[in-house]
Amino acid sequence: MERLVVISNRVAVPKARGVAGAQGGLSGALNAALKDHGGIWFGWSGQESEDPEGNIHLQRSDGVTTATIDLSARDIEEYYNGYANSTLWPLFHYRLDLTRYERETGKGYERVNERFADCVSPLIEPDDLIWVHDYHLLPLGERLRARGIANRIGFFLHIPWPPTRLFVSLPFHERLVRTMLEYDLIGFQTDEWRESFLHYCRKELGAEVEEATGTIRFEGRTAIARAYPIGIDWDHFQAQGASEEARHAEQRLLSSTRDRSAMIGVDRLDYSKGLPERIDGIGRFFDQHPDRVRDLVFIQIAPPSREDVESYQDIRMTLEQKAGQINGARSEVDLVPIRYVNRGYSHAELYGFFRAAKIGLVTPLRDGMNLVAKEYVAAQDRDDPGVLILSRFAGAAQQLAVDDTGAVLVNPYSPDDISHAIRVALDMPLAERRARYETMIGTIRDDNVQTWTRRFCDDLAATAGG
Ligand code: F6P
Repeated sequence: MERLVVISNRVAVPKARGVAGAQGGLSGALNAALKDHGGIWFGWSGQESEDPEGNIHLQRSDGVTTATIDLSARDIEEYYNGYANSTLWPLFHYRLDLTRYERETGKGYERVNERFADCVSPLIEPDDLIWVHDYHLLPLGERLRARGIANRIGFFLHIPWPPTRLFVSLPFHERLVRTMLEYDLIGFQTDEWRESFLHYCRKELGAEVEEATGTIRFEGRTAIARAYPIGIDWDHFQAQGASEEARHAEQRLLSSTRDRSAMIGVDRLDYSKGLPERIDGIGRFFDQHPDRVRDLVFIQIAPPSREDVESYQDIRMTLEQKAGQINGARSEVDLVPIRYVNRGYSHAELYGFFRAAKIGLVTPLRDGMNLVAKEYVAAQDRDDPGVLILSRFAGAAQQLAVDDTGAVLVNPYSPDDISHAIRVALDMPLAERRARYETMIGTIRDDNVQTWTRRFCDDLAATAGG
């Protein structure tokens, strides 16, 4: 089996397992794949330092080698806060209104990609499979090729790929996609994002594209674009669920909500997650059904994220205001309808909270996949499951809503739609809840993150390469 070299912005060392959120499952799966294949995980240490020597920190833990570099304050500002999170992130989530186009941050992004290529190239051996992750590193494959790396190189985009009409608003869009065609395999979360990418390659680059196989031929090179929907770490999550910590968390929530139904949302504090719109939907539900304020308590867990970026500071303020307004208007001495918590929890605690909640409310305005939706369902009691309300604009909707069953789909921009879905979920009979759960659970269990890793690595190994 070939060695694997994983390259991503953030690197999770094995002991970081159990950290809440998508990265917990992903890091577990990548660590497992690295253990099977042998190899290295390379990326940013998450630390800031002015390090003119460009030292690589090597660490071996639980059979996996990680190699990380620090970034300077300027690199972090221009590459991470700037181009990655103030240009590509909003644009790829269809938020042209929040997208900033700054020449300097674009240069910083290119500089850090060059630096990644310089540092990781000497660690690569001739037969290694190289797997690059996410929007921080779109041009890295081409930078590696420029350094003579002829290995098979794959890329996976964890977030959506925008429609061509939005994407062309990016200065130098053509240059960026040309660099991506140096990868042998390009993975997307869903067919929708893959189709948008193929559309761009055909329309804007004039590449020869075979829709069915995802084959893109351009200037003598061949790349393949496929969908690989990411899943959760099923076994790990179930094991967390069996822990005392999970049971305690479940009891804590149940005893604090007593005869009211708990509805839960867990998201990074990010404008793509549709949090203010979600609160508007809940406000609409209380307006339309004032007699049901006592039936429901909504718990929103929202750990802060990317706090140095202005749009993230704005979203925090907006959310606090909206939740505060509803609580101000609807609270009683013994009742607060919205609990808004600004911190993260362990996977075990989240399992317990999900299991105690009768409704999972997952309403991103746009999302590559959304693993919270899958984790919510995975934590349910098969005999008495809760209801998942899911945005039709989350990648997960393509797997979890089938022929009007599975998740209850909503338009996250519509407060009326959210309000209606909450009422439907609260009143849903047990037989329907069970049927919907059964529609979703098979794919959540079987199309897990290990399957995802295996499929991608097998397909990458099968490409012609170089
Ligand atoms: O899902 C996209 C992603 O960038 C992940 O790669 C990352 O773990 C997560 O969002 C959190 O973002 P950040 O690494 O910027 O804190």
